[in-house]
Amino acid sequence: MRLTDARIVLTGASGGLGAALASQLARAGAAVLLSGRDGGRLARIAMPAGCEYHTLATELTTEEGVARLTAAAREFRANALINNAGVGGFGLLEEQDWGTVEHVIATNLSAPVRLTQALLPLLRAQRSALVVNIGSAFGSLPFAGFAAYSAAKGGLHAFSQALRRELADSSVRVLHVSPRAIDTPLNSPAVRALNHALGNASDRPEAVARRIVRMIERGAVERHIGFPERLFAWLNGVAPGLIDQGLRGKLPTIKQHARSRRDGL
Ligand SMILES: NC(=O)c1ccc[n+]([C@@H]2O[C@H](COP(=O)([O-])OP(=O)(O)OC[C@H]3O[C@@H](n4cnc5c(N)ncnc54)[C@H](OP(=O)(O)O)[C@@H]3O)[C@@H](O)[C@H]2O)c1
Repeated sequence: MRLTDARIVLTGASGGLGAALASQLARAGAAVLLSGRDGGRLARIAMPAGCEYHTLATELTTEEGVARLTAAAREFRANALINNAGVGGFGLLEEQDWGTVEHVIATNLSAPVRLTQALLPLLRAQRSALVVNIGSAFGSLPFAGFAAYSAAKGGLHAFSQALRRELADSSVRVLHVSPRAIDTPLNSPAVRALNHALGNASDRPEAVARRIVRMIERGAVERHIGFPERLFAWLNGVAPGLIDQGLRGKLPTIKQHARSRRDGL
C-alpha cells in the first residue's frame, strides 16, 4: 500500500511500538487515527509537523469502545487498520487468577478480531485496503510462562491467515507481523530479567516500526522479525518435540523469574 494514500487506524498508539509506528507512518505520508486508553499519553506522542492525525481514547475490550472507534474510523474514512494494542501476561498458568488470563485473551485476541469485524464493511468499500495484525514470536513459538499470551497470539496468527484467505477475492489485504521481544513497557522487570537470563535479544521499538512500515509499503503478507526466532518458529511447526526439549532445560530459570516477581497486570 502506498502510504501517501493510506488512512490508518492504529490501536495501541500510546504504547512503545505504537508511538514509534504513529510517527513513522505519518512521516511516510499516511494520515493516522491514533487510539489508546490513556488520552494524556496519546496527546504526548511526538508527531511530525504538518501531518494529519487524530486521537481517540477508548477501551477496546468493551463493545462500547469498539463502537466508538468504528464510528471515528468511518468519519476518518479509514482504509487501513493496524491491530497493535496488547498486554503481556508473564506467569505460570496455575498461579494466575482467571481474571488475568481472560484479560490477556480479551485484549490480544478478542479485541482485534472484534474490531476487524466491525471495520470490514468500511474497508471493503475502499479501492484498496489493509489489515495489519501485530502478533508475537510466541504466536508461532509458544513459550513456557506465557501460556495465555501464546494462546492469544497463536490465535491471532490463525485469524490473520484465515481472514486473508476469506478476503482473497476482495480489495482488503492482510499482513501478520511476529516481532520478537521489543524494549517497551509491555515487558515488566520480571520479563526483562528473564530475557537477560535466557540471552533473548530485544529490539528497539523504532527499528521494529521501520521494518513494519517497509512491509506495508512492499505488500508483505507475513513476516517474523528476528533471527534465530524465525528459525525456531519454523522448527516448532515441523518438529515441536525438539523445541519441547530445548525449553525443558530453560524451565527452572523461567519458573524462578515467574515466581520471584509476578507480573501485576
Ligand atoms: N514488547 C514486546 O516485547 C513485544 C514483542 C512482540 C510483540 N509485541 C506486541 O506489540 C504490540 C505493542 O506492544 P508494546 O510492546 O508497544 O506494548 P505497550 O508499550 O505496553 O503498549 C500497549 C498499547 O496497547 C494499549 N492497550 C492495552 N490494552 C488496551 C485495551 N484494553 N484497550 C485499548 N488499548 C489497549 C495501551 O494503551 P494505554 O497506553 O492507554 O495503556 C498501549 O497503547 C502488542 O500487540 C504486543 O503484544 C510486543
